[in-house]
Amino acid sequence: MFHAGLGTFSAAALLMLACLGLTAWQLPRKQIEITTLVRRLTNLGFALHTLSVLILVFMLVSQDYTNAYVVGVVNPAMPTYLKITALWGGQAGSMFFWSWIINLCLVIALNRRHILQDNWSYLFALLNLLFFTGISFLIESPFRRVWQLADASLTESLFSPAAGASVYGGLIGFGLNPLLRHWGMIIHPPLLYIGFGAFLLPFAETLGHLVIKGDAENLIARLRPWLLFAWIFLTAGIALGSWWSYDVLGWGGYWAWDPVETSSLLPWLISTGLLHSMFLQQKRDIFKRINVILILLSYLLILFSILMTRAGLLSSVHAFGESAISRPLMVFLLFFTAISFGLVIWRRKKLDSGWEFTSYFSRDALFLYTLVLLGAITLVCLWGLVYPLIFGAGGTEIALDRGYYDRAVTPLFVLLVLLMAVCPLVGWSLSSLKKFGRRSFIPALFALLGAIAAFIWLSRSWVALLAIFIVLLGLAVLVAQTWRELWGSEKPLKKFWQMRSRYGAYLVHAGILLIVLGIVGVEGLSDNIQGTMAPGDKMPLAEYHFEFVGLTEAYDNPEYLSVRAEIDLWRGDEVIARLTPGQDIYDNRGQYVSIPGKRSTFGGDIYTLLLDYEADMGYVVVQATINPLVNFMWLGGLFLCLGAAFNLSSPIVREQALPKQKDDDNEDDSEPEGNAS
Ligand code: HEM
Repeated sequence: MFHAGLGTFSAAALLMLACLGLTAWQLPRKQIEITTLVRRLTNLGFALHTLSVLILVFMLVSQDYTNAYVVGVVNPAMPTYLKITALWGGQAGSMFFWSWIINLCLVIALNRRHILQDNWSYLFALLNLLFFTGISFLIESPFRRVWQLADASLTESLFSPAAGASVYGGLIGFGLNPLLRHWGMIIHPPLLYIGFGAFLLPFAETLGHLVIKGDAENLIARLRPWLLFAWIFLTAGIALGSWWSYDVLGWGGYWAWDPVETSSLLPWLISTGLLHSMFLQQKRDIFKRINVILILLSYLLILFSILMTRAGLLSSVHAFGESAISRPLMVFLLFFTAISFGLVIWRRKKLDSGWEFTSYFSRDALFLYTLVLLGAITLVCLWGLVYPLIFGAGGTEIALDRGYYDRAVTPLFVLLVLLMAVCPLVGWSLSSLKKFGRRSFIPALFALLGAIAAFIWLSRSWVALLAIFIVLLGLAVLVAQTWRELWGSEKPLKKFWQMRSRYGAYLVHAGILLIVLGIVGVEGLSDNIQGTMAPGDKMPLAEYHFEFVGLTEAYDNPEYLSVRAEIDLWRGDEVIARLTPGQDIYDNRGQYVSIPGKRSTFGGDIYTLLLDYEADMGYVVVQATINPLVNFMWLGGLFLCLGAAFNLSSPIVREQALPKQKDDDNEDDSEPEGNAS
């Protein structure tokens, strides 16, 4: 299997090099369009690359312990599906898998004949593919074998390291890190990688377009589906990661500002800004330069995120430790940053679209504020990430804690959500305050009544009440606006379908509002208690009681001891659920995974954790938390992806400028996107 795996991977890499040679040969000959030969060789290379990935998967599933990567991430007790997902569970495998995802994206783009059809764009994408393939080939090969030397010591390498060395298959490792054995975590990396990989395509296409044409004409319409596609996967990846941390890390927290979480947020923030500024180019023919910069930044920040995750620059629950790839990755990032900004500076005049700021109170202006806010949040996060690298250079680790992010990001995010809430009420150019007041009256009244109700029954925290007011205002505006647009139309369903790109955006915005509601629930309205209990003891929390019934210990899986506390949840005189918080204890690794015991309803979660226990004495230390509204967060995540998928299904919005100045009460509202050219 080793020879088959390495052989197919080497052949794939050679084909990539051949494509590089052919493309480089054609460029000085002014051959713009990619040739059929290159397209075929790329397809063949991808087929071989896929084969090599499948061979590695086979080695993982069949437990080929002569392979050092298999030893590191697989053990006999792991179920087959975990052995398969171990492909991206370790450093070498995840880089190998990432190079394959890039190849997959490249091949899809090439064969759909929509983007990457010119030699320059193809070259930029191919360089990325080659770089990560090179890392898997030369630095972090997943095909390295375990060798026994003449003195009986063991080492790893691709080929025989010394005379008398022989391949050794007797080493059995600990298997996949227990924290990664969770289904959220199983699909979270592939989703993120697909999102990351898909952002490469607009990046390479934009660089190619800058070299060949130098302007940004027709670029956005071509790239929008790819950007939306990439954004959906990135969003789904981040949302699942958040759910995983809520469910498995035992924090009961959904976001910890871990460096890896934070770095994956950077491209998301920038690409969210991009999806909005693209509108300005499509509607007003402005913001061309900014759009080009944002497309380039989205992918550069992805490279930065990979540097953070895979190069082990910062410690994190996700990081695989200090790595040999950090330096090449840093050089590669700097190289493409220089190319990107070099091209933008070179083409700056052709990208200039001129813009007069017509009104501070218009949708144009709101879009600009949105960009500024998203940019500011990105900078705050970036500073949080690089701070320990700059000030901890002497070896001491100085990380900015959660408080820094909460303090700096919360006000910016609240402003962003407020803008989002009122945006549909504001016209494209100059908007009159009178009209705004008229349209916002009923939603604002509804939100005010909701906030008063929350004040009476839920919370006295002004931050929570403000957030509830904004969320209700935003939801009411979306419903009222949809009603206004569709009501009275002869064929509301047809109109809805024709304008689905708008309603997709409304769904995405509703998703953000629901996420805010979930955050308010966890941060502002949750309640918790912690206590030590013997069997029969009861612990009160709000209208509930938690009764400790007993403790079970079992080796259901030979790898770990499953400890479960049985806790009856009482409301009044009635037991409404049995919760079983526990720990899976991996003795041989000195590690345990906390398994929460939960009762989930639409209104929220009752979430218990087993913090400690003493089996002989029969007591447990349990933490119980009531997290109201938390499930709105996951529903919101779903809305984000569904809404954007809805947008993706709608025809490409025309790239046509609207009149520069217009007081537009109904501007665009009745204009079906389906008529786009
Ligand atoms: C984190 C916050 C936000 C997210 C995740 C978000 C997401 C999105 C997405 C995915 C789209 C669809 C883009 C497309 O079809 O290409 C969209 C459209 C839009 N967004 Fe946002 N957005 C956010 C904040 C805002 C804010 C603050 C504003 C206020 C200016 C805003 C105003 C709009 C408008 C006007 C549209 C176009 C709707 C239409 O087609 O009529 N968004 N948004």
